[in-house]
Amino acid sequence: MQRLSLIQPDDWHLHLRDGEALRAVVGDSARQFARAVVMPNLDPPVTTVAEAEAYRRRILAALPKDSAFRPLMTLYLTDHTSEEEIQRAAAHPDIIGVKLYPSGATTNSAAGVTHIGRRDPVFAAMERHGLPLLVHGEVTDPAVDVFDREAVFIDTVLNPLLERFPDLPLVLEHVTTRQGVEFVGTAGARVAATLTAHHLLMNRNALFRGGLRPHHYCLPVLKRESHRQALLEAATSGDSRFFLGTDSAPHARRRKESACGCAGIYTAHAAMELYAEAFEQAGALDRLEAFASRNGPAFYGLPVNRQTITLVRESWRVPERYVLGADDLVPLRAGEELYWKLITP
Ligand code: DOR
Ligand code: ZN
Repeated sequence: MQRLSLIQPDDWHLHLRDGEALRAVVGDSARQFARAVVMPNLDPPVTTVAEAEAYRRRILAALPKDSAFRPLMTLYLTDHTSEEEIQRAAAHPDIIGVKLYPSGATTNSAAGVTHIGRRDPVFAAMERHGLPLLVHGEVTDPAVDVFDREAVFIDTVLNPLLERFPDLPLVLEHVTTRQGVEFVGTAGARVAATLTAHHLLMNRNALFRGGLRPHHYCLPVLKRESHRQALLEAATSGDSRFFLGTDSAPHARRRKESACGCAGIYTAHAAMELYAEAFEQAGALDRLEAFASRNGPAFYGLPVNRQTITLVRESWRVPERYVLGADDLVPLRAGEELYWKLITP
């Protein structure tokens, strides 16, 4: 296949940051996606409807002229989020869900939830209002092996949570394991998962290829090949509860190439090209449109986009760096060739 036209996709999990970084990256997503679910892990985090509205206005102001990109906002759940705030969020047309970061699990998660069981009144309110809970699904116990944290979270947190709240709409964000795929597979229609391009394309060997590769470090960390195969099977299975969420997470190069490098992989520069590569490797390019453009809207009860995008088989070289304010940003596949190219109308 030389040319692939798709209904315009959406990104159901994206980090846009703020200020200069926001202005540097938002155009990459807006070029491809009609909408994106914007993560609230700013510092300080986006914890109220008023803060989400203000952040949304900053995103709109940072967009290229005439862009029709629509940011869908999320609230950051804390130990103090009130049921009233949940009610306000549920009634708000631009707020799509509430993000659960177990405190300490990842970048800017310090204000996250310390005891998930103590937030049951808030989960009950979300279940009542049908407001989705978007979950970073990893335990934070340092005694648990970092490669097992998703599987342990499913057993010890997610399954009990869904037993208490069987009607709570829930997205296991950036699922990385076979156990995560099975969790969604056996749950009901209200449970879904997003899949990143980087977890579909790389296994944990990519962290150590010829040396330590900080630009392949993200959370949840890349897993072994058998898990990647399970993710590919899920993405290409036709099960509508698996959909696209890049988790594109820009960090300044200096903060990645450091003695304690932070987690996050930038993929927004070539997100659809990277997903096309993964689907092509799986022999399932014909399943890409459902995964990228139909399944997410179906889960969130939103209309499918009207526009289309086109990818062509044409190689191009990813730049070594992009500008990120005063620093720079190393994208996934920096300096390497990609074989699909998005053509802008
Ligand atoms: O790799 C990651 N980066 N995982 C996350 O959960 C957060 C994200 C970020 O904000 O940088
Ligand atoms: Zn994320």
